[in-house]
Amino acid sequence: MRLTMLGRPGAGKGTQGALLAEHFGIPHISTGSMFRDAIRSGSALGALAKRFIDRGHLVPDDVAIRIVEERLTRGDCRNGYILDGFPRTVAQARALDAALHSTGHELDAAVEIRISDEEAVMRIAHRWVCPECGATYFRRYPACAERSRCQVCNATLTQREDDTEETARERLAVYLVQTQPVISYYEERGRLITVNGEQSIEEVFREMVDSLTRVRDELESSGAL
Ligand code: AP5
Ligand code: MG
Ligand code: ZN
Repeated sequence: MRLTMLGRPGAGKGTQGALLAEHFGIPHISTGSMFRDAIRSGSALGALAKRFIDRGHLVPDDVAIRIVEERLTRGDCRNGYILDGFPRTVAQARALDAALHSTGHELDAAVEIRISDEEAVMRIAHRWVCPECGATYFRRYPACAERSRCQVCNATLTQREDDTEETARERLAVYLVQTQPVISYYEERGRLITVNGEQSIEEVFREMVDSLTRVRDELESSGAL
C-alpha cells in the first residue's frame, strides 16, 4: 500500500508511522527526519533545509520533491510505503501523483490525523526525543514526566530545535495556509481518511489500522494490489 499521513505539527504522524510500518511491513518515510539527518551529517542539503526549518517555514518544493522521488526509487519501497510530512503543498501532491502515474501506480490513501490547534502546540512543547534512535516521549504522560534517558537505547533525551512554542505556532500557521489545501486535494479525489488524533496512541492506531485494512481489502479484491 502507498499511503501518506497528514496532520498538524504534533498530530502523531511520526508515532503512528512507526507503528503502521511495523504492522504492514512497509517503510516509514518522514521528510522531516530526512532533513534532520541531513543537518546532522553537515551536508549542503542540511544547511539549506536548516534555514527554513529553524524558522518553522517549509523547505522549497523542488528540494522536498527531489529527495522523496529519489527515496521512492529504492528497493524497500517496491511493496509500498508510508509517507509522513509529504506532500505538504498542493504542488508536492501533484508532483507525487505525476511520479506515481509515470510508473503505473497511485496513492492508495491519505490519512489525516486530526487534532486541534491548542493540542498541537501543547504536544510540541512537551515532546522530548532520542537523538540516537528517534524514539519520542511526551512529558505530560506520567510515565515519561521524569524521564531523561531513552527507554530503548539509554541515550540522553533532547528537544528538537524547532520545538519552541514560538516556532510551533509558526509551523501551525504555515500548516493552515499551505498544507490544509492538500487535505481538500485528496478529499476531492476520494482518497481521504480522517481519524481522531485526540485519543490514546493505541486508539488512534486501531482506528487507522481498521480503515487501512478496509482499503487494502478493496484494492486486493479489485486486483489493484
Ligand atoms: P516534521 O518533522 O514533519 O514536523 P511536523 O509536521 O511539524 O510534525 P511533527 O514531527 O512535529 O509531529 P508528528 O505529527 O510527527 O507528531 P509526533 O508523532 O512526533 O517537519 C519539520 C520541518 O521540516 C517542517 O517544519 C519543514 O520546515 C520541514 N519539512 C518537512 N517535510 C517537508 C516537506 N514535505 N516540504 C517542505 N518542508 C518540509 O507526536 C508529537 C508528540 O505528541 C510526541 O511527544 C508524542 O509522544 C505525542 N503523542 C503522539 N500521539 C499522541 C496521542 N495520541 N496522545 C498523546 N500524545 C501523543
Ligand atoms: Mg514527526
Ligand atoms: Zn533511543
